[in-house]
Amino acid sequence: MMRVLMTSLLSIAISQPVLAAFELQPLPYPATALQPAIDAQTMTIHHGKHHKAYVDNLNAQIKTYPELDKMSVEQVLAQISKYNPAVRNNAGGHYNHQLFWSLMAPTGQTGEPSAALLERIKADFGSMDEFKKQFNAAATSRFGSGWAWLIVNPQGKLAIGSTANQDNPLMDIAELKGQPILALDVWEHAYYLSYQNKRADYAAAWWSVVNWKTVNQLFAASAPQSSSTRSSSEQP
Ligand SMILES: [Fe+2]
Repeated sequence: MMRVLMTSLLSIAISQPVLAAFELQPLPYPATALQPAIDAQTMTIHHGKHHKAYVDNLNAQIKTYPELDKMSVEQVLAQISKYNPAVRNNAGGHYNHQLFWSLMAPTGQTGEPSAALLERIKADFGSMDEFKKQFNAAATSRFGSGWAWLIVNPQGKLAIGSTANQDNPLMDIAELKGQPILALDVWEHAYYLSYQNKRADYAAAWWSVVNWKTVNQLFAASAPQSSSTRSSSEQP
């Protein structure tokens, strides 16, 4: 009897492994913290339903691709061409949203662009105003669902662009490739409750909650690599 029971338990354990390599982290602030730029209900649904679904659906793909269990989401993105559309959409969705939450902060806790970042923005775009104008143009002109990005590209320069759906600049298939340091979700689920079809108003209001502390850190982390890339590419 005991042997039968142990065998049954073992078979259950084998047939129902815990497939949860990727985790949904809590929001780094209360859902109300970004008001009035982003309302609490949008934040609650966006994080607790949409982001959670990307994480759950990505974990479900471990049955198809067992190696995902041992990989970071960045490693998955770097070779996304090997995988099916479900991995592409959900690994992208998980990375993009995890980054997005960290790129926002309550008013008064957002910090300011570092001197180094400001210098680079002026060098690559002319001014902060021109940079924001170009970024918002990328956000509003993206047809359908997607993301606007500020990246450090492989040449070590800042670049603005957008991607469709949940694609991002870390994917090996991306046309826009580089290290993201700022991102704006322009799916309707990110803004529709407060802004309806006025995506431009959402993009304009969003600047009030951009967490420059995180942007500065991501820029600083990408700088050594971009400097060496630039200097090596300049050598004959
Ligand atoms: Fe989203």
